[in-house]
Amino acid sequence: MNKKIGAKILGTGSYFPNKVLTNADLEKIVETSDEWISTRTGIKERRIAANGEYTSDLAYKASLEAIKAANIKLEEIDLVLVATITPDMFFPSTACFLQKKLGLNSVPAFDLSAACSGFVYGVATAKAFIEAGLYKNILLVGAEELSKITDWTDRNTCILFGDGAGAMILSASQQNNDILSVFLGADGSYANLLFIPGGGSINPATAKTVDEKLHSMKMQGKEVFKAAIPKMVFAAQKALELSGRKLEDIKLFIPHQANMRIIEAVAKKMNIPMERVFVNIHKTGNISSATTITALDEAIKTGRLNKGDLVELVAFGGGFTWGATVVKV
Ligand code: UT7
Repeated sequence: MNKKIGAKILGTGSYFPNKVLTNADLEKIVETSDEWISTRTGIKERRIAANGEYTSDLAYKASLEAIKAANIKLEEIDLVLVATITPDMFFPSTACFLQKKLGLNSVPAFDLSAACSGFVYGVATAKAFIEAGLYKNILLVGAEELSKITDWTDRNTCILFGDGAGAMILSASQQNNDILSVFLGADGSYANLLFIPGGGSINPATAKTVDEKLHSMKMQGKEVFKAAIPKMVFAAQKALELSGRKLEDIKLFIPHQANMRIIEAVAKKMNIPMERVFVNIHKTGNISSATTITALDEAIKTGRLNKGDLVELVAFGGGFTWGATVVKV
C-alpha cells in the first residue's frame, strides 16, 4: 500500500535590500520621533528597495538562497508560487517574472493575495498541491515592496512598513510530513480597515485617484490592532490543536511582526514566555507576506532552530485574513 505523501521543507532563504531607513530618517520626513515609533511599535529601522529593484528581484535573490539550502537542481522545481500584495504589476503575476528570472520556463507560476497572512496561506496551498500529488518541488515565496504603496506623508502608516523577501522549497516525501497543520480564516467585512482603494475595478486609476492618494495604503490602526490580537491567538490555538502537539512541544513561535505590543499581547494571552517568541520587528518593520518566512529563515540561520524542531507561524492582515501553521524544520 502507498504511504500518504507529505510535504518536506527542504530549505529556506531570504533577501533584504541594502538601504536602511531609520526612525531618525523618518523624523526628517514626517512629524514623528524615534521615541514614539520605538515605544508604540518596537520598530527601529526597515529596509527599502532601490529604484529599479522590483519585488521579483527580491523574490529572485531569496529563491536562489532557498534553492541552495534545499540542495536541489533548479530544473526540479515544478511550481512557482508567490504571496504578495505589492506585485511588479497587476499582471503578469510576480511569480511569472520570477519564473523567467530563474530560467524555469514553462513551469506553472501564480501569485497569491492574502496580505500579511500570505505566506501562511501559501504553505497551506503548497501542502495541498503536494498531498494531491500534483507537484513535487514547490518554490514558495513571500515578497513585498511595501515602500511602493506607502503614503510617505502619512505618519500613521509610513513608519510601519518595509521591503524584503523570503522563500521556501517544499518537496513531496513518503517518509516526512513537515507541515503538521494549517489553519486559515478571513472576514471580508473588515476590508475597509486596511486597504488600497485605488487602481482596481472600484476606483480605476484617474488623475483624481492619484490626487486623492487612493493608490497608497489606508489603515485604521487602532481597529486593526484590536482585531489582530484575538484572531492571532485563535489561529495559533487552532493550528496547535490540529497538529496534535502541545504548547511545550513548540520550540519557537513566529508571529507576524506588525507591532511589538501585538506580539507581546498574543504571547501573554497564550502563556508563551517571550524567550520562545521570535522578534525581529526592530530591524524589518512590517513586511506583510514576507514577514513570517524571513523570520523563520533568520531563526534557522542564527541557530534559534535546529533540525527537527517544531515551530509555529502565526499571521494576521488585511482582508481581514489570519492563519497559523505548525511546521517541522
Ligand atoms: O500587518 C497587520 C496590520 N497592521 C497592524 O497590525 C497594525 C496595527 N496597529 C498598530 O500597530 C497601531 O495602531 C499603530 C502603531 C498604527 C498606532 O498606534 P496607536 O497606539 O494605536 O496610536 P493611535 O493611532 O491611537 O495614535 C495615538 C497618538 C495620536 O495623537 P493624539 O490624537 O493622541 O494627539 C496620533 O496622532 O499618536 C499620534 N501618532 C503619532 N505620533 C508620532 C500617530 N502616528 C504617529 C507617529 N509619530 N508616527
